Amino acid sequence: MRTDRCGALRASDVGRKVRLGGWVHRRRDLGGIVFIDLRDRDGTVQLSCDPKWTPAPVLEAAAGIGSESVILVEGEVALRPDEARDHSLATREVEVHVSAIELVGPAVTPPIPVAFRDGEELAAEELRLRHRVLDLRRPELQANLMLRHRLLQRARATLAAQGFLELETPILTKPTPEGARDYLVPSRVHAGEFYALPQSPQIYKQLFMVAGFDRYFQIARCFRDEDLRADRQPEFTQIDIEASFVSADDVRRFVEDVLVELWAEAGHTVSAPFPRLTYADVMERYGSDKPDLRFGFEIADHSQIVGPDAAPFVVDALRAGGRLRAILVPGGAAWSRKDIDGFTAVAKGAGAGGLMWAKRAEGDTSDAWSGQGVKALGLEMLRRVPADAGDLCLAVVGPDTVTSPSLAAVRAAVIGRTELGPSTEHSLAWVVDFPLFEPDPDSGDPVPAHHPFTAPHPDDVSKLTGSPGECRSTHNDVIYNGHELGSGSIRITDQVLQRRIFDLLGLGTEEIDRRFGFLLESLAQGAPPHGGFAVGFDRVVMLLAGAPSLRDVVAFPKTTAARALFEEAPTTVGPAELADLHLAVTRPS
Ligand code: AMO
Repeated sequence: MRTDRCGALRASDVGRKVRLGGWVHRRRDLGGIVFIDLRDRDGTVQLSCDPKWTPAPVLEAAAGIGSESVILVEGEVALRPDEARDHSLATREVEVHVSAIELVGPAVTPPIPVAFRDGEELAAEELRLRHRVLDLRRPELQANLMLRHRLLQRARATLAAQGFLELETPILTKPTPEGARDYLVPSRVHAGEFYALPQSPQIYKQLFMVAGFDRYFQIARCFRDEDLRADRQPEFTQIDIEASFVSADDVRRFVEDVLVELWAEAGHTVSAPFPRLTYADVMERYGSDKPDLRFGFEIADHSQIVGPDAAPFVVDALRAGGRLRAILVPGGAAWSRKDIDGFTAVAKGAGAGGLMWAKRAEGDTSDAWSGQGVKALGLEMLRRVPADAGDLCLAVVGPDTVTSPSLAAVRAAVIGRTELGPSTEHSLAWVVDFPLFEPDPDSGDPVPAHHPFTAPHPDDVSKLTGSPGECRSTHNDVIYNGHELGSGSIRITDQVLQRRIFDLLGLGTEEIDRRFGFLLESLAQGAPPHGGFAVGFDRVVMLLAGAPSLRDVVAFPKTTAARALFEEAPTTVGPAELADLHLAVTRPS
């Protein structure tokens, strides 16, 4: 039906007779002459319907075609008149002199716009999700999904070239714990029994190693019933890898290879190896395990320099084992009270009782400090803080579980207001030596800091007896500009150790065998040392596309309330279907 794509026509095509198909992006009637911008996934081209080359009935038809209708067109490529030529977009140099038009896909008046004029705002996101197919026609979303395609091909090619086999794992599975709730699928043939959708292919990829496949990868769809945010979807895609006879360094090299290639595909040069920081170090300096390392504003511990003139609540908090930690913002003294109140709200939102702040002016240090925090922190301490004139000191006192998250949130808010220096745009780094366990926020019981198949750090195995809370693991993350991109580890391959870990997590023998017997049985049948990693692919696409949300890089995403607004899922089902699945629904009253 077509000789060319609309967005592909160039000055070198002038004089050619072409047939095009596409969507009517915009139409302008200029008294007897009709211009149509015709759009396909490659871009738009101007169609010119002019009595000089367009037969009268065709011209008349052109004048009546509505936006977003699909037309087939015949015509000749011509240079646009000089004054209308726009060199910023290649196709804007040429237009097509139309000789025939066929309306093949008429469109009703679109409920949301696809074509925008400069400065025009997008419709509300909920409305756009409700009309997702129209919204997907927007050039920005087309570009995002085409980038997604290219990144996927590049990841596949890179891993296949390294000898990784692309193998699939089941979607109807036994649960793999990754810290979220499972989506369950009722079995019709086995009343009262359920499959779980995989939270990740973790156990299956380990079984591939025991089965001898040596290097596996999968572009894996994962399902997690968890609280959603801009960077989380209930179903998402991982670039999932696992390899045998590898060290943690080998796994990191594989991941670096893939990420360097993906960044190159998006037009950016980044180099490996990425810097490596320990979990303890990033928590101390940034209060977060995924700090944005493009910026300084490091957190410092000033507990040792607090003097007797500090407020009683500060002294008491230190006596109770807490610490006084702060960040210094160069130039922040110029910020208004309103700005600082904003930071205080951020600190409180992250769990702090309040934020102490003080501004450092020029001159003699005895009266150089001003602000609400001077009284609380005491001049004795402020005089010894390594601050320059114009700095703003933002401080929190308390246990690390309070100071770390609140100062990390304040740091992120400060970064949000700071211009990036020219130095680095892309900061990829490793965070290594995560703890093996962390306390459950509600019960305080140990839960895996990641998943229970992570091997302990080789130097810390002895701590499993007596002080498991201090045991580091082989778990590591790769982070980018303040986002966690992916995680991985070396796995436990000794079934006795694996049982011990389950035991430390409070699982009884019967439960261990019921839930993980198949894994333990395999580990006892000759398991090679192995490890692997999973990169959150949607996050990579979002960040490389410069998009604010995963919803901009997933074709049919869910809302933060886990609903698909376009096709309307989830939905209720009828009594007969429920009966087939041996289910009864009880509604909360
Ligand atoms: P983890 O649970 O850390 O590791 O997941 C790996 C990466 O997947 C991405 N991710 C998500 N992306 C979008 N929406 C979500 N709800 C979501 N949850 C996670 C993140 C994350 O870093 N089996 C292990 C990996 C391994 O040990 O090999 C795993 O799944 O970018």
